[in-house]
Amino acid sequence: MDTRRDIESRLDIESLITNFYDEVKRDPVISIIFTEIVPLDWDHHIPLIVDFWETILLDKPVYKRNAMDVHYKLNNIYPLKKEHFDSWLSLFYATLDRLFKGPLVELAKKRSRDIAGLMMYKMNNTIL
Ligand code: HEM
Repeated sequence: MDTRRDIESRLDIESLITNFYDEVKRDPVISIIFTEIVPLDWDHHIPLIVDFWETILLDKPVYKRNAMDVHYKLNNIYPLKKEHFDSWLSLFYATLDRLFKGPLVELAKKRSRDIAGLMMYKMNNTIL
């Protein structure tokens, strides 16, 4: 039986992001970025990402930073290529589909694909 429901709360987004990063940390293509290139303080980083998705999915404007700038800086020290965006998106989609189902899942996929596509275009002048 399929018991998945849609994303409904900040708690749901926390679960989504924690599960996503568990996968990211194991991924052969992008884990190095999060563990060695930018050794992240996860207790600081995860609430920021949760704020970001709460702003988009639950329409609560809690994220006030500039997510693009962070990735430009990252791109300067470690160029982000198609393979990195492909891995990021495929892990994000898989985590969304494993845990939830519904219109907000589809919105999260669309927004992440659009943002990743924009990052890819601005960094590499090619489309994803
Ligand atoms: C190749 C794909 C990606 C990689 C390797 C990546 C990596 C990272 C890293 C290492 C940071 C932390 C930077 C720092 O604190 O210095 C970060 C922050 C962040 N990323 Fe990504 N990212 C990717 C794609 C995306 C996409 C597609 C989105 C949005 C849909 C996204 C949203 C964010 C947000 C919201 C932050 C927090 C920014 C802040 O500090 O306010 N990332 N990312």
